[in-house]
Amino acid sequence: MNHDHPLLGELVAAALSARNQAYAPYSKFLVGAALLSEDGRIFTGCNVENASYGLTICAERNAVFSAVAAGCKTFNHIVIATDTPQPTPPCGACRQVLFEFSPGLSIGLATPSGLKSWHPLADLLPGAFGPKSLG
Ligand code: THU
Repeated sequence: MNHDHPLLGELVAAALSARNQAYAPYSKFLVGAALLSEDGRIFTGCNVENASYGLTICAERNAVFSAVAAGCKTFNHIVIATDTPQPTPPCGACRQVLFEFSPGLSIGLATPSGLKSWHPLADLLPGAFGPKSLG
């Protein structure tokens, strides 16, 4: 996995900045995500909650949907930012949505003190169901 991409510093900063836009009045758990497309574009997302709690959308899926809406569907890196003692891995639903577009994705976890770790999506979602599973 390549973690030498010249835009990775910018990607971490973008995830931390996106976190500031989170709308999380219920959980107070603010999340930011920044996705780097294969052609070098950065797409961000934050979690957006709702008074009807189940309608909440996670930061990671908002970043993916924003990228797809702009015509980008191939990604190598995402960074997820939270302000927690331990960095926060993506929820199961977001792992599944990320797998749809980039099974080889590398997931970076960050806190305000910087990037903490990288994780292959394949490690976080082993035996995934994906487009190829449909035959
Ligand atoms: N959340 C995310 O944005 N991403 C995740 O991967 C985990 C959870 C959000 C959803 C909700 O607004 C808050 O964090 C608490 O679950």
